[in-house]
Amino acid sequence: MRKKIVAGNWKMHTCIEEGVILAAEINSKVKKEVSNQETGIIIAPPFTHLSIIGQIVDNERICIAAQNCSSEPKGAFTGEVSAKMLKSFGVKAVILGHSERRAYYVETNEILLKKVNLVLENDLKPIFCCGEKLEERESKNHFNVVKSQIEQVLFNLDVENFSKCIIAYEPVWAIGTGVTASSEQAQEMHLFIRNLIVEKFGKEISENITILYGGSCKPSNSKELFSKPDVDGGLIGGASLDADDFIAIINSF
Ligand code: PGA
Repeated sequence: MRKKIVAGNWKMHTCIEEGVILAAEINSKVKKEVSNQETGIIIAPPFTHLSIIGQIVDNERICIAAQNCSSEPKGAFTGEVSAKMLKSFGVKAVILGHSERRAYYVETNEILLKKVNLVLENDLKPIFCCGEKLEERESKNHFNVVKSQIEQVLFNLDVENFSKCIIAYEPVWAIGTGVTASSEQAQEMHLFIRNLIVEKFGKEISENITILYGGSCKPSNSKELFSKPDVDGGLIGGASLDADDFIAIINSF
């Protein structure tokens, strides 16, 4: 059966001292307050914190992820961080295609496919984000948008590589806005995605892919969202910066 996962996307928050304190707090609360050992826990701090936080947390229990990586394997790309570098200090997964990266750094599906391939080549897990903007939902185009994001990137992979991916459905209108998709809206889209995967790779593969919901997920709505059959956990922004909130979300299954 597919894995339930709660992943925290810290975005560009916390200086190193604060990040270390937060990671240590999450680590100790996970030990004391999370009894379900089956729930996967991921935290994605900024690049600068990855190495030290990797040494602080129990790596058997908490996976460290990066929020991005370069679309190139190596070379003269000032300021970039390669998938191979991330792998070399214990990172296990990389968030790719977050709507903030698509919007502010013009990451196209073509660029994202290069990134996904590099992440997989380096034996890391892509956490691939997709989701529609408000106007796309209002014009009832949301299914088409999500379909093309997934088709143009993940459906270029072979079945073995595709099976290693985690998908995060994050409606752009819900990210950082306090407006959450209703559990029905989330379930409807997650089921739609799962059915796309059935058509492409078959039922068994589809049943095993973890699909996370992201967008203003917090302790007050996580239980309801995670109760839906195709919502396998969350990608959490704001609420992942508070250890108690993050733990409460982890304990929402
Ligand atoms: P949010 O962010 O939980 O702050 O809405 C989610 C995300 O961007 O992954």
